[in-house]
Amino acid sequence: MKKPHLYILLAGLFSATSCQKTEKPDIDQKPFAKQDSASLVKKGEYLVTITGCNDCHTPKRMGPKGPELITELLLSGYQGKNAVPEFDLERAKSGFAQMSPDMTAAAGSWGISFAANLTPDETGIGSWTFEQFKTAITQGKYKGMENGRPLLPPMPWFNYSEMKDEDVRGIFAYLKSIKPVKNVVPPPKQFEK
Ligand code: HEC
Repeated sequence: MKKPHLYILLAGLFSATSCQKTEKPDIDQKPFAKQDSASLVKKGEYLVTITGCNDCHTPKRMGPKGPELITELLLSGYQGKNAVPEFDLERAKSGFAQMSPDMTAAAGSWGISFAANLTPDETGIGSWTFEQFKTAITQGKYKGMENGRPLLPPMPWFNYSEMKDEDVRGIFAYLKSIKPVKNVVPPPKQFEK
């Protein structure tokens, strides 16, 4: 006669634990603008500033005290409509790294690389998921694809490989919140072997 009681007890325990289960927020399914708190975006802005993403990803104009960020083009990368900067390619081939005056293009033994458009336009990271972004900046893979080509210098992705998930989320949220800039960045140019 004891058995039915045991079943009732077990059923009770089971339903109690299933009630306690909290729903995990489905962070990748919703549009970022809707679910990001302003503080996450602020944190991302802070991290982008102190880690120097603008050094390479924001075009600059020469001011009285040196290069100044062109804020209308914030983080939109090398401007595809511009002529390719004049690098000394012979020296680049022999290993001397060079940067364009605004630091959005660089030449070295790897060829010529152009800083990516990180704004939320379709020509930038507009259609990227968080996972893609994380793979790109922590593993150095083009467009964050598992089989993407390795990102070229001077993108310092290895400095970010240990970045905490919450920090990557902040940076991604901030980038998704800035002004979208339409700018197709050219593919890198490789030296003929
Ligand atoms: C010293 C220069 C430099 C700095 C600093 C830098 N980047 Fe980059 N980044 C580049 C260059 C150049 C590329 C393009 C590399 C290539 O084409 O392989 C790139 C590529 C990327 C890509 C890949 C884009 C794609 O389409 O696959 C992402 C994402 C990125 N950078 C994000 C960042 C973020 C976020 C920061 C700051 C935390 C940052 N970068 C700092 C130079 C830099």
